[in-house]
Amino acid sequence: METNVLGKPLNRFEGRLKVTGAARYAGDYRPKELAFAFAARSEIAAGEVLSVDATEAEVAPGVLGIIHALDSPEFFRCPESVSVGERRPPLEDKMIYYAGQIVAVVVAETYAQARWAAGLLKIKYREDERFSVDFEKALEEREAKVTDRGGRGDPGAIFDESEARVDASYDSPVESHCAMELHVSTAWWEEKRLVVEDSTQHVLGQREALARTFGMPESDVEARSRFIGGGFGSKLFLWPHCILAAEAARSLGRPVQFMLDRRANFTTAGNRPFTKQRVRIGADRDGRFRALLHEATNHTSLVHDYEESCTDVSRSLYSCPDVATIQRTIRLNTGSPTPMRGPGETPGLWALESAIDELAVELGIDPLELRLRNVAERDEDRALPWSSNLHGRCLKEAAKRFGWERRNPQVGSMREGEELIGWGLASASWEAMRTEANVSVEFLANGSARVACATQDIGTGTYTVFAQVVSELTGLGFDNIEVLIGDTRLPKGPISGGSMATGSVVPAIADATDAAILKLAKLATTQGGPFAGRDPEGFVMRDGKLCSKDRSARVGISELLEGARQSYVKGEATAQSGEEQEKYSFRSFGAHCVEVRWNPDRGRLRVARVASVIDAGRIINHKTASNQVYGSIVMGVGMALLERCVYDKRSGRLVTDNLADYLVPVMTDAPEMDLVLLDEPDPRFGRFGARGIGEIGLTGVAAAIANAVYHATGRRIRSLPIRLDSLLESGDPSA
Ligand code: MOS
Repeated sequence: METNVLGKPLNRFEGRLKVTGAARYAGDYRPKELAFAFAARSEIAAGEVLSVDATEAEVAPGVLGIIHALDSPEFFRCPESVSVGERRPPLEDKMIYYAGQIVAVVVAETYAQARWAAGLLKIKYREDERFSVDFEKALEEREAKVTDRGGRGDPGAIFDESEARVDASYDSPVESHCAMELHVSTAWWEEKRLVVEDSTQHVLGQREALARTFGMPESDVEARSRFIGGGFGSKLFLWPHCILAAEAARSLGRPVQFMLDRRANFTTAGNRPFTKQRVRIGADRDGRFRALLHEATNHTSLVHDYEESCTDVSRSLYSCPDVATIQRTIRLNTGSPTPMRGPGETPGLWALESAIDELAVELGIDPLELRLRNVAERDEDRALPWSSNLHGRCLKEAAKRFGWERRNPQVGSMREGEELIGWGLASASWEAMRTEANVSVEFLANGSARVACATQDIGTGTYTVFAQVVSELTGLGFDNIEVLIGDTRLPKGPISGGSMATGSVVPAIADATDAAILKLAKLATTQGGPFAGRDPEGFVMRDGKLCSKDRSARVGISELLEGARQSYVKGEATAQSGEEQEKYSFRSFGAHCVEVRWNPDRGRLRVARVASVIDAGRIINHKTASNQVYGSIVMGVGMALLERCVYDKRSGRLVTDNLADYLVPVMTDAPEMDLVLLDEPDPRFGRFGARGIGEIGLTGVAAAIANAVYHATGRRIRSLPIRLDSLLESGDPSA
């Protein structure tokens, strides 16, 4: 298809606002009389609050009010149908379920005053010695809650009789999203209406959950989120601080801003849970999978049920006749886990793609070749054809760009100077989902277009993609396009999560733009219009002007609207996943090849380069899409080598609740990246055929790195992050 702006690597539509500081984030809103909240959080992991002595705090400078567990307002629990971060509303009872739980909130004239006064609260606890933050021990001592996620055939029996077998367990730690922007809610009431400027990935979800929590109609809640400084899943759902900001604002009769400090971000705003996974693969001598059993257990909290669906991807990524998947959860005294980028698939493929590498070693088959032999021709789980599956092509192209054919399979055989070189690969995958999106597009008398939808830009490029679609269909430049998002007053749009926003909204923008163009054409062809009597269907827009398809007639937006004495025309559209979803299975695929370098003398391990090929359907903007994958790969380096939350088993506290002890990768950890986005439109998925690209880049990266580490060192690491001490024991395998 001929295109002007779709696919181009255009700069961010909102980039200037961000670099000049004009973009306003939730914490930048300073309504008149704004007060600030700060939380006192539990020092113990289990027990109850016996007393709160606020005598000193109350008279501290600037203090306006204190809410605490023994004098708490009543909130309603949201029903299961409404997604929230913690099912238990804050301060619901005086019980302590985890260290770091909010037990009181102090509101003061300034942030510093609120913080100071929170430290003056004297809270007495009855401490319960029985608590658990030890995942391994909990699994030994207690029964986990089991969900059978389904499968096919009789994989247990087939596995037992398979010629080649791998049976291994893989662990991953609690990880924190560590978005740069802290969680923050700025809330105020306008009579009975609640307004929240919120760092959220889903304004409509916040509205629904807040309305349920306060027992009021949704029409009385407004949530806005114009810009977000990273979310990665941590800002999908309602967390306690937002409820407490709204409550404090209600009781004080003043706007209140509640920003979680970095430490609180680690405990009361979600993280990726611990996982322990067992993968069994049975195969023929020639490497064809015959049986696959994937079991995963993740921890959840006492105040919420969260399942990390690690095993779902294993039912369809590869071809295998007999498959079983089982999920389990076990409760710990921690804050609630929540989705983190690529939830399910990211830890799931860490295990599956490691196990496949182990099988390749066992069989003596090249890991690339082994995967290619098992590419799924159709979705064997749903028994449906794929809308498109370029898995094999991704694997081959990544390997080719990387130079995989030069790999010597012998462990520890490749070196350069002091460094041992390891090459590993893994597949990437993410289910492509769509949800309902409503969009309006208006043409205004000043000649510009305005596109609106209540979805969000979480830094991913939503503003840019919206503007591109309108520009593509109208020929208007970005200067003449206004994008309105992140506001519950706009037409209903999707959550910015699950890599769904682009795929869901783009078709609706296109349809709404067409509808608005048709309205213009009707104005032009109606009695008194410049092209009266002509067929309105015979018009399109080019260069920002309404044009007949035969190019014989042409009129500008302003001229047309002014002539008709109208200030605007508006087109509206709703797009949702249609019946195609019943006929096809939609999934994105990819592949990562990784080079690690291990210096056994210096004990230095680094990820030197990565070649990735990703198929996410049509790419609307190569720059913002690539940016998602580059960021994901770096996040994968963090997952593989650095990131983990450590809990103190004696106190139950999170030790690593800060950016000094919780290590995230920095620029010097970023590998050289060679990325290809295949850009094959998937028209069955929706108009323009874009499937979304937020999560897939992270899936598979940790396994590819661990596989490369094995190739360099001969050490099979089955527990993340890969620590230097676990490699040092091995010494130099070629020595
Ligand atoms: Mo993503 S974990 O759905 O924000």
